[in-house]
Amino acid sequence: MKILTVVGARPQFIKACMLSKIIVQEPDLQEIIVHTGQHYDVNMSDIFFNELKLPVPDYHLKIGSGSHGKQTSKMLCKLEEIMVEEKPDIVLVYGDTNSTLAGSLSAAKLNIPIAHVESGLRSYNKKMPEEINRVVTDHLSTLFFCPTQTAVNNLKKEGINHGVYLTGDINYDALLFYKSYALNHSTILSDLNLTKEEYYLATIHRAENTDNYHRLKTILEAFNELDMKVIFPIHPRTKEKIKQMNLLNLLHSSNIKTIEPLPYFDMIHIENFAKAILTDSGGVQKEAYMLRVPCITLRDETEWTETVDSKWNTLVGASNLGNISHAIANVKKPSNYPAIFGDGHSSKIMTNILLNFK
Ligand code: UD1
Ligand code: UDP
Repeated sequence: MKILTVVGARPQFIKACMLSKIIVQEPDLQEIIVHTGQHYDVNMSDIFFNELKLPVPDYHLKIGSGSHGKQTSKMLCKLEEIMVEEKPDIVLVYGDTNSTLAGSLSAAKLNIPIAHVESGLRSYNKKMPEEINRVVTDHLSTLFFCPTQTAVNNLKKEGINHGVYLTGDINYDALLFYKSYALNHSTILSDLNLTKEEYYLATIHRAENTDNYHRLKTILEAFNELDMKVIFPIHPRTKEKIKQMNLLNLLHSSNIKTIEPLPYFDMIHIENFAKAILTDSGGVQKEAYMLRVPCITLRDETEWTETVDSKWNTLVGASNLGNISHAIANVKKPSNYPAIFGDGHSSKIMTNILLNFK
């Protein structure tokens, strides 16, 4: 079976590496990897291919940044050509980015079945580009690899019942695989002169926060009020928006340590020893839970509702400074810890499903 995998953004490289490792061991499976080039800075792309030993992509489309329509349509044109040429038996897409949408739409129009990893997640907020991408992709897919029971239930509500598998979460596979290496080899704490549990870690990149002056300002003001240093590996989108919105003065304070986006092993290490994590990232919310670090989510809703139900994750939005400060002041580790994300073998489960797919 020929599998054509479409990736393009940072979180997809981390997820895809786990499945690729298993696919390559299966003589009946062949994987062709297409990198759309949605993320292209070395520290948003190449660094993950090198560190996680992902195979060099068979095709690199070099699409780069652009408005949603331009970026997605450029991807569609090139992906269609490649799919016609390669004639894959199935197209594998991850998550909810524009690369996911382009991969699934190109495949669907050519009647190629689609397997969607991280299927069934919903925020029920269609203002998010990710929600549109994931809803469309799910309604075009044939195999639905759901990380959580909530994801399975969400698909059911939309009438999607066939080909739905509760596989567990692929980020959990990656975390279990790399955690001890990351904890033993990363020197990020000493590099940044940090003491365990005496700093907060923050990541922000979602359009709903970066593209809204009030929300972005409130987030940066909250970081400035914290009782400990905030380490802020800054996504290129956020860096640009802070400059455009004249908010640099809030960034250049003694309480915020801005750094470049981190490689995965350093990220796991710095997440693991944070007193708490403040984020709007999906992957980082999950990793906080997996590492048992309290998380404050700077969004109005989350797809990872189980992390909130278990009280490890607190949703505070990003428009009220008082709410953010209150949540951080009251951060603690709950005693319960339900197994939300499976057992860390989701890539094996997905591979077996692919092997049996006719
Ligand atoms: C994308 C995904 C988002 C995902 C995130 C992971 C979409 C709609 N959004 O958001 O779901 O959570 O990736 O990180 O697909 N830029 C650079 N260098 C890069 C990449 C981006 O400078 O290597 C800058 C450009 O100014 C670009 C902006 O970041 O315009 C946004 O990049 P884009 O890929 O469009 O969206 P993300 O915000 O990264
Ligand atoms: N990540 C990383 N370095 C960083 C920030 C994030 O390696 O500086 C990893 C993080 O550990 C997680 C993934 O990137 O595995 C999350 O990606 P991101 O936050 O960009 O996107 P999202 O998950 O929100 O789609």
